[in-house]
Amino acid sequence: MADMLVKLYNVSPDPALIARLEQQQISIKRVLAPDTRRVIRFIETNAESHWPQESKDSWMAECAASLTNHPPTCFLAVQQRAIIGFACYNATAKGYFGPTGVLREAQGKGVGKALLLASLLAMWDEGYGYAIIGWPARSAMEFYVKTVQAQVIEDSSPGIYRRLVDA
Ligand SMILES: CC(C)(COP(=O)(O)OP(=O)(O)OC[C@H]1O[C@@H](n2cnc3c(N)ncnc32)[C@H](O)[C@@H]1OP(=O)(O)O)[C@@H](O)C(=O)NCCC(=O)NCCS
Repeated sequence: MADMLVKLYNVSPDPALIARLEQQQISIKRVLAPDTRRVIRFIETNAESHWPQESKDSWMAECAASLTNHPPTCFLAVQQRAIIGFACYNATAKGYFGPTGVLREAQGKGVGKALLLASLLAMWDEGYGYAIIGWPARSAMEFYVKTVQAQVIEDSSPGIYRRLVDA
């Protein structure tokens, strides 16, 4: 798996998308510390049924890392007081986006894109010029190309992931 690069200076907000989601009572929120355990539980409960190709343990650990940042570098999609998706940045490593996931029944409505844009725009505000999508799932690469014109970084595998115990 290769990493992908996003030019943050080309990423724009999408107010029409946010308005469309608001009509469905979906809002994008940066995590507040009191919700830390709720967010980790959300991944723990849903990973196997909604994102079976991903590693639940890795996602929980990476998300937990993002929640130790101040402010937490994790955004949620919330509908009727329930989490329906999440996206982290500065989790696996500085300058990296991910992990991210949207519940199956909420996919295809723009939630993943809204979470991605919120994260990337936050990174831009924090001074980054580029973001790296760390080891995107093959099935999600087209999503990143389509939404933020991400480009595959040649020779980037295993990249930082060579530090994994089982790499
Ligand atoms: C990838 C994921 C986060 C996308 O979230 P989503 O809410 O379904 O995506 P959106 O509805 O915001 O999609 C935005 C656009 O990307 C397209 N898109 C979404 N997923 C896509 C995919 N896997 N391949 C190609 N295009 C995709 C949509 O069709 C949409 O296009 P449009 O604007 O022309 O309508 C979600 O499908 C998911 O949780 N997948 C499983 C976990 C995963 O793979 N996470 C990423 C690991 S790196």
